[in-house]
Parts: sequence; C-alpha cells; structure tokens
Amino acid sequence: MKKDMANAIAVETRQVGKKFGSVTALDGIDIRVGSGEFVALMGASGSGKTTLMNILTCLDTASSGEVWLDGVNAATLDEEGRREFRARHIGLVFQQFHLIPYLNALENVMLAQHYHSVVDQPSARAALELVGMEHRLEHLPSQLSGGEQQRVCIARALVNRPPIIFADEPTGNLDEENENRVLDIFEKLHAQGHTIVMVTHNPVLGHRAERIVYLQHGRIVDAPEAISATARQTNGSRAFAMAASESARP
Ligand SMILES: Nc1ncnc2c1ncn2[C@@H]1O[C@H](COP(=O)(O)OP(=O)(O)O)[C@@H](O)[C@H]1O
Ligand SMILES: [Mg+2]
Repeated sequence: MKKDMANAIAVETRQVGKKFGSVTALDGIDIRVGSGEFVALMGASGSGKTTLMNILTCLDTASSGEVWLDGVNAATLDEEGRREFRARHIGLVFQQFHLIPYLNALENVMLAQHYHSVVDQPSARAALELVGMEHRLEHLPSQLSGGEQQRVCIARALVNRPPIIFADEPTGNLDEENENRVLDIFEKLHAQGHTIVMVTHNPVLGHRAERIVYLQHGRIVDAPEAISATARQTNGSRAFAMAASESARP
C-alpha cells in the first residue's frame, strides 16, 4: 500500500476467459493494474464488467487463463484460501449496499472485522470517520440516506485495511452530489496509496480515474468510440441507466 511499491503489480490477468454454458462472457482478457493505480472499468451493459470483477475479487473463478493478485496466482487458492485472501487484500463495494438492516453503522462495519476475526471498535470508528460518517455511528441503515449507506459500505470495505479496493457501479444508486462524494473518497484513498478498480457507466466519473479500461463483448478494446456513445446515452437517461445496471448481477 505504500507509494514505494509503485512498480509492483496489484492485479494481472493473462488471457482470462469465462463461459457461462454457451455464452462467452470474457475472452482473452489481459490487464495489469500497478500497485497504487486508480483504474476505471467501463463498457456497455452486458460487456462483462461484473463477470471480470467477480473473477478479480475471487468471488468466481475463470474458465481459462490466470489471475494474479498481489503476486499470488488465484488458481492456487482453495475456497478457504480465497476467503482469507479476500479478507486481507481486497475491499469490496457494490451498487447494492448489502448492509444488515438491524445493525447500526458501527456494527455493520465491525461485522466485516468479525469475518477477519479481529474486532476492534476504534478502527471501525476510524474507518467511518474517514468517510465522514462519524456523526451517524448508531444509525440503522433505514435511518441513513443512500449516499450515507454507501459511505458505510466503503468504511466496511476499508476496515481491514486492504490494499486493493474493487467497486462495481458504486454510485449506480446515488444522485450526482453523492456520486461526487464517493469519488472524493476514492481519490483520497488513492492518494493514500490504495489500488482502486472501479466499474462505472458514467464517463465523467470514469475520467476521474488515472486510466480507463474499456470492455466490449468480453474483450478489452482501445478505441472507446462505440462505448462512449453508449455511455453518453445511458448517462443522459438516468432511468435507462438504472434499469440497465439493475439487471446486472453484483
Ligand atoms: N451467471 C451467469 N449465467 C449466465 N450468463 C451470465 C451470467 N453472468 C453473466 N452472464 C452473461 O455474461 C455477459 C456479461 O455479463 P456481466 O458481466 O454481468 O456484464 P456487465 O456487468 O458488463 O453488464 C452477459 O451476456 C450476461 O448475460
Ligand atoms: Mg455489471
């Protein structure tokens, strides 16, 4: 997580493919994300963004090719090993918040520590402070706005101090003001040395990353012409963007 690790590779895929029955969701994906880089992943709905994120976060396995995370070949990890690796190395933020409704903000963040088998209230508070939620520790999710709930989710993703943050459409359910707040937090985390990979439909948000990787029909493409046209369209129509992203699995 330190800046002097700038030459290290945080995420690397070699010819990653994924098939769901006869559907080829990913085809020969080669990406490299340096330690401390902030990368946006963009592409039309159905282009394979969530499938790729699931594989990069060890929630799913590739049908072919290799995935390396912080120098570890994901194929060498069994299910328990993947869970442990995720807990130590990876923070996840989704479009849907997945907060436990009967636990308050602090408890939701501490629950993530619980999975990591260390419960430490001061670090849970510190994570909530980092996202500007120190004044809402005892609020239940239902007593928080969407933007506030997403900030609790980011605190939850950060509490175990993972070097890499993966976010799949983290602002898909938020208004523009809260989109910007979430991006402000990601920029702050990036400045602190975190590696960030963020999927977004929104080109304005994508351009706040250092680099954009474009996916089209399960492949990486250089020329984003068709995609930015789609993204502009989706961005112009909030309702369509919401419907499109709702149909995608987290
Ligand atoms: N579990 C699954 N079973 C079958 N097909 C799937 C599954 N997950 C994704 N797909 C298909 O893979 C393609 C990529 O989907 P996805 O990764 O969700 O795209 P995106 O996140 O870019 O919208 C789509 O054609 C989708 O229908
Ligand atoms: Mg998706």
